[in-house]
Amino acid sequence: MNKKIRLGILGGGGDSLIGVLHRVASSMFDRYEIIGGVFNPNYDENLSFAKKLGLKESRIYKDFETMVDQESKLNSDERIEVVSVLTPNFLHYPMAKKLLENNFHVICEKPLTTTYKEALDLKKIQSEKKLVFAVTYTYTGYPMVRQMTKMIADGVIGKLHKVDAQYLQGWLNPVIHEKEKRNSTWRLNPEKSGISCCVGDIGTHAFNMVELVTGMKVKSVLADLNTLYADNPMDVDANILIQFSTNMKGTIRSSQIATGEENNLRISVYGEKGGLKWEQENPNYLYHLKDDAPLQVLKSGHGYNNEISLDGTKLPPGHPEGIFDSMGNIYKGVARAIRQESFASEEFPSIEDGVRGMDFIEKTVESNSKGNVWVELNK
Ligand SMILES: NC(=O)c1ccc[n+]([C@@H]2O[C@H](COP(=O)([O-])OP(=O)(O)OC[C@H]3O[C@@H](n4cnc5c(N)ncnc54)[C@H](O)[C@@H]3O)[C@@H](O)[C@H]2O)c1
Repeated sequence: MNKKIRLGILGGGGDSLIGVLHRVASSMFDRYEIIGGVFNPNYDENLSFAKKLGLKESRIYKDFETMVDQESKLNSDERIEVVSVLTPNFLHYPMAKKLLENNFHVICEKPLTTTYKEALDLKKIQSEKKLVFAVTYTYTGYPMVRQMTKMIADGVIGKLHKVDAQYLQGWLNPVIHEKEKRNSTWRLNPEKSGISCCVGDIGTHAFNMVELVTGMKVKSVLADLNTLYADNPMDVDANILIQFSTNMKGTIRSSQIATGEENNLRISVYGEKGGLKWEQENPNYLYHLKDDAPLQVLKSGHGYNNEISLDGTKLPPGHPEGIFDSMGNIYKGVARAIRQESFASEEFPSIEDGVRGMDFIEKTVESNSKGNVWVELNK
C-alpha cells in the first residue's frame, strides 16, 4: 500500500515544546499525512493552530474522546491510523488506552505513563490488539547511537564492565529557588508529571540509552535524589548507581539544576577491548577508545558504518544531522511497522522500553525514600 499513513496528534500545539519536532519528523520521509487531532484543550486555540497547519476543521476535535469516537465512525481508508500523544505526562495513559481499545496505532512521548501499573495495562492491551506502539526516546534514532549499539553487539569493545550515562540540564535553576516560580511548569507538579521530575523527564532517557546500547538489562538501582527545597515534592537532581546481572556496574546522573548546561546527554561504555563514547550535543561523532591505539573518531554517513546507522543518514558525510533527523528515523521505523514492511527492533523504542522506563522511575524513587538502598527492577 503506497498511500500515506494518516496521522492524528494529541497535544503538541503551537505553545508546546515538542510538537514541532514530531510534525517535522513525520514529514521527513514522506510517509505520513497529518489529518487532525486535538492540539490544545482550549478549542479556539486548537482550531486556530490547526488552521495554520492547513488542516480541515472537520477533523479537529474538542477533546480526545470525541476524536476517537468520531474517527472510529469513518471508513477504514479515511480514518486516522496512528496517533501521536504529545501532552503532559498524566494524559498519556487515558489517551493511549482509549486509542488502543479503538484500534489506533500509537506513538507516545516518554515517560509512557505516570505509574508502572498503568504502563503494564497499556502493554497488555497493545499485545492483545497487536497494534504498533512506539515510545519516543528521541535520541535512539541518531545514526551514531545505532552504530554504537551495533558495534557493542558485534563485540568490538569486548565483554562490558562499566557504563556511565549522564543527562545534565540547567533550565530549572532560574525557576527552582522561588516557590511561586515553581508553579510555572507542570513538570514540578506531581499530579501532571508523576512521582518524579528529573528522573521521569530525563533520567529515563539515559536509562533507556544504557539498556539499548549495552543490550543488557539493569538489575538494580541505588538512588540519591535531590529536591533542593523541603517544600518541593519533586526531584530535580539524581545520582543513581546501577548493577547488572554480570559484574558490570555503572552510573546514571541526571540533573535539571546543573546551571548553564543545555542538553548534555552523554553515554560511555567500557569493555575489555575498548570504550565507546557518544554525546547528544555533538551527535555526528562516535569516539572509540583503546588501550594501545590513538582515539578513533567515527562519523555519520560513511560507508564504514553499519546498515542501520546508514539507513538513518539522509545526506553524504559532512552534512550535520540533528534531533529532528533522529526523531524522523523513529517515525520512519514506525511507518515500516504499520505498513508491515521489514524493520529492525532498534528502529524505534517499543512499549516494553516504556514499561521498563516506568519501573526505573518508581524504583529510583523507592530507593531514595527508603534511605538510598538497592532496589531490584522487575524482570
Ligand atoms: N522525547 C523528548 O526528548 C521530549 C522532549 C520534551 C518533552 N517530551 C515529552 O513530551 C510531552 C509534552 O512535553 P512538552 O514539553 O511539549 O509540554 P508543553 O507543556 O510544552 O506542551 C504540552 C501541549 O499539550 C497540550 N495539551 C495539554 N492538555 C491537553 C489536552 N487535554 N488535550 C490536548 N492537548 C493538550 C498543550 O496545549 C500543549 O500544546 C511530555 O510528556 C514530555 O515528557 C519529550
